[in-house]
Amino acid sequence: MDSMTFVLFGATGDLAKRKIYPALYNLFVEGKIPASFSVIGMGRREVADEQFQSNVEQSIKDFSRHVNDDRAQMDQFLSAFRYSALNVNHPEDYKKLLQLAEQRENDLGIPGNRMFYLSVAPEFFDVIALNIRESGLAETKGWKRLIIEKPFGHDLESARELNDRLSRTFAEDEIYRIDHYLGKPMVQNLEALKFANPLLQGVWNNQYIANVQITASEIVGVEERAGYYDHSGAIRDMVQNHMLQVLMMAAMNKPEHVTAGQVRDEKSKVMQALRALDPSDIASSVVRGQYTSGEINGNAVPSYKEELGIAPDSQNDTFISARLWIDNEQWSGVPFYIRTGKRMKEKSTRIVVEFKQDSTDPYAAQGQPSEPNLLIIHVNPDEKVTLRLNSKDPLNNGQLETVLMNYNSEDKDVPEAYERLIFDALRGDSTFFAHWNEVELSWMWVQPVLEAFARGEVPLHTYAAGSYGPEASDQLLEEQGFTWWLDQ
Ligand code: BG6
Repeated sequence: MDSMTFVLFGATGDLAKRKIYPALYNLFVEGKIPASFSVIGMGRREVADEQFQSNVEQSIKDFSRHVNDDRAQMDQFLSAFRYSALNVNHPEDYKKLLQLAEQRENDLGIPGNRMFYLSVAPEFFDVIALNIRESGLAETKGWKRLIIEKPFGHDLESARELNDRLSRTFAEDEIYRIDHYLGKPMVQNLEALKFANPLLQGVWNNQYIANVQITASEIVGVEERAGYYDHSGAIRDMVQNHMLQVLMMAAMNKPEHVTAGQVRDEKSKVMQALRALDPSDIASSVVRGQYTSGEINGNAVPSYKEELGIAPDSQNDTFISARLWIDNEQWSGVPFYIRTGKRMKEKSTRIVVEFKQDSTDPYAAQGQPSEPNLLIIHVNPDEKVTLRLNSKDPLNNGQLETVLMNYNSEDKDVPEAYERLIFDALRGDSTFFAHWNEVELSWMWVQPVLEAFARGEVPLHTYAAGSYGPEASDQLLEEQGFTWWLDQ
């Protein structure tokens, strides 16, 4: 990997502390980034370099996967860090930043490779990109790249505008849009499970699959993010990005080669084939919900409307489920169900693939029908793959029972999503980042849904905190004769 300067906007923020510094440290300890590199952190406040370095060290102690007592190694790592106070609207601060970047590049004898990481509120994305260009920071002999966090736009139009603005400074292949779900090992593993196993590849289609269920349920509520969340809702916070990205990964067809370009092409094809919802179908295909008070793990929790900073009459969604159809040869007739919500019964991100049953099942004729085969990809908190099969129970006169075959990667010390993604971006591999085509196509699917919400055409159901969501979400599946698979 090339030596580089990591230019971090939002260096005193929560994400930097919890994810970015620990990720850089883990990469450094594992020798995955060159020993000679430079990090320049920026924030509004004045912070001395020594203080900045000690804050970074603290965040590593608090959040890093690797923690060791090797003082010399830690000092070497921290010596790469400098801080520069920056007001995002002041062009002169970017000039100062440029000088510091050049000075560090000279001192360390490293090429002008610059990784700009925008770990800041989205309203600052375009002004920062503009100033990176105007200040000359983007004119470098080395490479330049941009890592940007979600949300990427608030709707289709604002996403397009943002993309236009960013592309004045960065080309598409220089932009790494983080969707941390794409950094999750089991989401990345979908590709291998499907394409490296003829056994699964052969049945990954509408001939064998009855439906696919993608769930991302959370126990947490709105936390301290009321200002953001009450204007985003689950539809923007989770569906437009994470849920649709997982759907693309689950449904994409086999590329000829597993390269970033081909994987992205196949993902875009899924989105192009995703049936746009006609306004008259939205209310019957999308379920919105908001939590009321309830109990989770024995603790009473308040309703969404009672959460700090939430308007008492808020009509925001904290739960969404939806039925989607992919109109291509592979998936025609197979419903994909997605479901995500806050304050649900359990923290669980998983993909359940339900296979069709054999219509000539000989056991059914004998009064003991087999159960559907399931392939369950557990993404979080467990990372495992489960295959549910029918088998004979030798202790019960050979009656059929379902058995679970598990592959569990728990005992491997797996790098965190941010660590994998930052590593990929630093080496220029964009496979697991959201390409503009995918982002735009996702917004195109979501936009009419947002508009139907705004027109009040989709009822806001309630669900008790600690439940699996509104009943209407179960009905979505019942209409095709299915149910959500729980606890497998
Ligand atoms: C974030 C959302 O992108 O993903 C949060 O903004 C959500 O609201 C989080 O809690 C869930 O991520 P994970 O990795 O815990 O499933």
